[in-house]
Amino acid sequence: MENSIVKNSGRTITGLIFVVIAALVATLLVSPADAAPSKGKPDKGTSVAPVVVGHRGASGYRPEHTLASYELAAKLGADFIEPDLVSTKDGVLVARHENEIGGTTDVADHPEFADRKTTKVIDGKEITGWFTEDFTLAELKTLRAKERLPKERQQNTIYDGQFEVPTFDEVLELREQLSKELGRKIGVYPETKHPTYFQSIGLSLEPGVVAALKDHQLNKAKAPVIVQSFELTNLQQLRTELGLKTPSAFLTSASGAPYDLESTGDERTYADLVSPEGLAEISEFVTGIGPVKDQVIPREADGALGEPTSLVADAHEAGLVVHPYTFRAENTFLPVDYRNGSNPADYGKILEEMKAYLETGIDGLFTDNPDIGVLAVEQYMASK
Ligand code: G3P
Ligand code: CA
Repeated sequence: MENSIVKNSGRTITGLIFVVIAALVATLLVSPADAAPSKGKPDKGTSVAPVVVGHRGASGYRPEHTLASYELAAKLGADFIEPDLVSTKDGVLVARHENEIGGTTDVADHPEFADRKTTKVIDGKEITGWFTEDFTLAELKTLRAKERLPKERQQNTIYDGQFEVPTFDEVLELREQLSKELGRKIGVYPETKHPTYFQSIGLSLEPGVVAALKDHQLNKAKAPVIVQSFELTNLQQLRTELGLKTPSAFLTSASGAPYDLESTGDERTYADLVSPEGLAEISEFVTGIGPVKDQVIPREADGALGEPTSLVADAHEAGLVVHPYTFRAENTFLPVDYRNGSNPADYGKILEEMKAYLETGIDGLFTDNPDIGVLAVEQYMASK
């Protein structure tokens, strides 16, 4: 009996060593470098863990698009950090969700910039505020970020006034530093914001994106990078004219049309472009799609989560990976049957919502709460 225990213990220890080595190998195999889709070779979501994209960093916990938000996202386990990119007056790419910065910085509290407040038409919509393209980088650096959603995320307001607006270059430096510190490749998922508009004012975003990736040795097919946009033309130009070698993704909305198409009389809508024919067409120059999550599982008329569409299967058929956006923990962002109580700011059943989406075969997800995304992926993978 004793011998048997010793023998079995030996087997157990050998087994444990094997399991640990296998787990390490598996971790390396699903690192973002490999998880990033290769053109024409999609991850169909069957053997590789779906990736977690820290949407605007860990914006559920820190003011969005700050180095603190990106750093926390990586430390909470995100595979990718996600900077949205706009341009300054002097042509520097900075991380903001839109070029109007009144909602996410303290610019309104700077009397020296009061005369910069203006009204512009961006992508056909009239917007009043302060715009990045009217500030040099040095001027923007005097501003500080603030929480976009103070009602839903009051706890994040303690960081108001703490963090600068980062440049894309600073985000890529942070990515490199965090990859070394955490011992895994942190991916970056940059989005060109309002590309047609920035081209129209002589501040095209795309050359700077490629140049920055090159500066950081990231313009490679296997780099842990996915460049994304809600417009098609710039994604085509990046691939065919500007020498982008990384994977890329086309973002889609449940309604409307890409502004580059709309503004040139091309009648194709987002709905057309996520049809099987549309997906086959865009698969010529992108490696994935980033649909709004309602295009993967729409809500019923009463706001409850409905049944999955064929989008994931259609995209996989076209050789495209699918990374829907945006998963957020607060009730106000969740389907009514995934809420806890009636306070819009309280957390609902986000873990269950994410797992319902993972069951559709998606290859990753954008979330403001990367720690919960990691947990959902772990539980989903363990259930298979
Ligand atoms: O890029 C994916 C998702 O971030 C798109 O939505 O508006 O948050 O940039 P938005
Ligand atoms: Ca984005």
